[in-house]
Amino acid sequence: MGEKLTIDSTLRCDVLVIGAGGAGLRAAAQIGELRPGTKIIALTKVTSPQKSHTTTAQGGMAAVDPKDPVDKPIFHIFDTWKGSDCSADQNVIKKVCNMGWEEVVWLERNGMHFSRTEEGRIPKRPFGGHMLNFGETKAFRACYEADRTGKGIMDTVWNESLKHGVNFIGQCIATEILFKDNKCIGAIIFRYPEGKFLAILAKATIMATGGKTRMYLVSSNCRGNTGDGLAFALHAGIPIMDPEAVQFHPTGMVGPGILASEALRGEGAILRNKDKEPFMERYAPTAKDLAPRDLISRAIITEFREGRGLFHEGHNAQHVWLDLRHLPKEVHEKKIQEVCSFFKRFVGVDPEKDLCPVTPTAHYQMGGIPTNEFGEVQTDTQTIIPGLFACGEVAAASLHGLNRLGTNSLLELITLGKVTGERVVEYLKDAEDPEEISPDAGHIVFDQFSTYLNAQGTEKYAQIRETLRNLMMEKVGIFRTEKSLLEAIEGLKSLKERAMHIPIGITSLKANQDLWQIWELNNLITVSMVIAQGALARKESRGAHYREDYPERSNEFNYHTLVSMPEFNKITLGKRPIDMSIFEAKGERFELFDYIERKY
Ligand code: FUM
Repeated sequence: MGEKLTIDSTLRCDVLVIGAGGAGLRAAAQIGELRPGTKIIALTKVTSPQKSHTTTAQGGMAAVDPKDPVDKPIFHIFDTWKGSDCSADQNVIKKVCNMGWEEVVWLERNGMHFSRTEEGRIPKRPFGGHMLNFGETKAFRACYEADRTGKGIMDTVWNESLKHGVNFIGQCIATEILFKDNKCIGAIIFRYPEGKFLAILAKATIMATGGKTRMYLVSSNCRGNTGDGLAFALHAGIPIMDPEAVQFHPTGMVGPGILASEALRGEGAILRNKDKEPFMERYAPTAKDLAPRDLISRAIITEFREGRGLFHEGHNAQHVWLDLRHLPKEVHEKKIQEVCSFFKRFVGVDPEKDLCPVTPTAHYQMGGIPTNEFGEVQTDTQTIIPGLFACGEVAAASLHGLNRLGTNSLLELITLGKVTGERVVEYLKDAEDPEEISPDAGHIVFDQFSTYLNAQGTEKYAQIRETLRNLMMEKVGIFRTEKSLLEAIEGLKSLKERAMHIPIGITSLKANQDLWQIWELNNLITVSMVIAQGALARKESRGAHYREDYPERSNEFNYHTLVSMPEFNKITLGKRPIDMSIFEAKGERFELFDYIERKY
């Protein structure tokens, strides 16, 4: 054993934001706007906020302009409910959809360079499952900055945070939540370059660590999306809501899994199988290529299974084609130029001339740390953890239920980021400065790091990670069965055991990449177990969770899953009711907000 593990120093602030992506920084900007002078520290795992995963979001942010002559917020509210397969919370859907346009205006006023129509207006494009008149025909609802909307959002929220004096700490991970008298008082963090632990004491802490789909073989997520925030919450005894709800985006670029935005299909691109047939007509006769993602991803895998997929030798992977060749040159050059350049650079095809190989890619987690509609973390609907908030992809309020519509994630992170910021400002009115950390602070991460640094054996990090990615893709992927899930759970137990026997050559804490990666690997295995257990418990098919042995949706499962796992594989299952407040209010077309049939 090398260095003794201790907390090197303690910092104090009013608000600690863990994760400096779109949601965390929208919350920080709101706090700065409403309460100038608030001392905010924002942490990022990467070197700068501009490398956050939000930056990679491409196609747009859904929002209905109240002055729109044809679209209405109620249509968006309905589409989100239907898209979730009747499993999202209606109070949250209503709040978020009604706030969308004011947030577009906020972004625009603070410098976001939205694209423009000839008349100088913000343009909108169609996305899967967004429709007019309660499902009649496609809606133009996704506001965009070409095909780099996430980057525009990040520039804006980062700039606003800087304006309000937010302090950033880069290349660090939060490893443990600190509590005193059941109240959250900050976190322990670990700085990679110096290899030092710091305690950050805060009156309020916001978790905004983003997503986690790097446990899948094909993933559109950034390298660092390893479920750290979820693992960190589980260790603190906080349940994860709807972990089984993992979204596969139908069009990942074969090979890297990078997103080929749904905006391409919004602009008219067509999916074709090996016979060049536009096969989506068979699966979703009305919405076709703009059906929701869960449906298209299952359609593509069905094409593979029935022998109508293709095989890419170079990447050893099955795929279908995305055909963009018929789109006008102007669309290629002005509206989707970034994605087209990715196809050229990473796949070696030119979308103006060639068919582009695509395959479903793990893209998003609908579930996460349970919160109410104000971003307060809850262990159940009655119990809030004072001082702890969560927003963005790591949180589940739940806007998306078991399936998310494209462009509703940027909408969520901006709207609920703002709402969370407002709630934090309320909370700060009576919050006291945490006095001291408890003497055992840091014990969770010290135990973890000591175990990793002292591990004996011959196991290899890369092999375990590769096995995990294959296991999750095959057994907890787009199609699941009881057998595959039980096999996954056994496989995960074995991987957890093996991960304890990876020897680390260097025991210094300073810039120790092996240590960092093993910590991430353990988080991935932890979160994978929770996904598999949630999926095993939900004996029905709903949204992105598809059980071949229970192919129908069942009213028995009209609830959110809560999975607690304070220790590996020590599972407790709970339930949270689905909010049906729109249906219960009996307002305009309330009958559509019942458990309706979902057809496209
Ligand atoms: O396809 C896309 O551009 C992704 C958007 C989203 O995930 O919301």
